[in-house]
Amino acid sequence: MIDAAGRTIDYLRVSVTDRCNLRCVYCMPAQGVEPVPYGELLTLEEIAQVCAAAARLGVTKVKLTGGEPLVRKGCARLVGMLKAIPGIREVTMTTNGILLPRELPGLVEAGLDAVNISLDTLDPAHFEALTRFPLEGNVREAIDAALAAGLRVKVNTVGIEEYNGGDLAELAALARDRQLDVRFIELMPIGLGKTLTPIPGEEVRRRLEERFGPMEPYKGRRGNGPAVYYSVPGFVGKVGFISAVSHEFCQSCNRVRLTSTGFLKLCLHYNDGISLRDLIRRGAGEEELAETIRRAILHKPLHHAFGESCAAPNLEARTMSQIGG
Ligand code: 5AD
Ligand code: SF4
Repeated sequence: MIDAAGRTIDYLRVSVTDRCNLRCVYCMPAQGVEPVPYGELLTLEEIAQVCAAAARLGVTKVKLTGGEPLVRKGCARLVGMLKAIPGIREVTMTTNGILLPRELPGLVEAGLDAVNISLDTLDPAHFEALTRFPLEGNVREAIDAALAAGLRVKVNTVGIEEYNGGDLAELAALARDRQLDVRFIELMPIGLGKTLTPIPGEEVRRRLEERFGPMEPYKGRRGNGPAVYYSVPGFVGKVGFISAVSHEFCQSCNRVRLTSTGFLKLCLHYNDGISLRDLIRRGAGEEELAETIRRAILHKPLHHAFGESCAAPNLEARTMSQIGG
């Protein structure tokens, strides 16, 4: 559908759980966050109901996120349910990759189209400092297994000066001999992200060029999000930049979010939205659900307020694990 600002909304990000098997410093406090009681989570069937209603409004792409989606049982079954909804063309997932080797066969069988693997460093000591867990197994192997299984793969890296500022070139090099894209995401001042030092996209690019030589802007289309891609000399895959803070792209935003408790969230930066869980549990049908979503989307905020010091009353106060980045 088209929102009040003329933006086409065709992408729904669905958080299936707020729980996670890591504790990344920019996302969760060391002791974790009080998890949502299971009864407050949407069931997989309820998630599929929301997606079916959203598909009626023109949503064609669903991404499963968390917390860490794979800590919830039944992800593969959910992927199968979503793929069966008329109008849903693509179901993808964002994961930290830890459980991916185990879950991959089921996910591929269910029809998962692509996977984004969040990985901020390949250095075991830095990984442990950043995620507060030791690096188990070999993430490169998980990445290669996903590629071998025929999934499209992207690696997402958040650059934080204190933790991985020196590791970015090595991460980019994953795209040297693999058919995947490595994307550098600017740390957003949301939740614990406010307390750390982001590395602007331009600065990441400068560091990569120092190591690999000049990069060329890539003109072809890739994905349907806000990333800007570059070709790197000698690389098979591309390197991308998602610079929400330094280059606001809200005017082309195509997405809304569903939290694990069934709250339809209209913008990452604000708590505006509506609880669909109450509606579903009152027995609302797909049509009523679709109409509610449509009316909510008309109130999608025009843009974030990352750069502003004002404290709007509706600014998001939750951690990323509770929202679903
Ligand atoms: N800014 C940018 N990205 C973030 N993520 C979590 N918190 C932030 C933040 N403040 C990212 C994770 C993961 C994705 C789910 O969200 O690194 O890639
Ligand atoms: Fe877990 Fe992702 Fe948050 Fe890290 S960023 S703690 S992997 S949800």
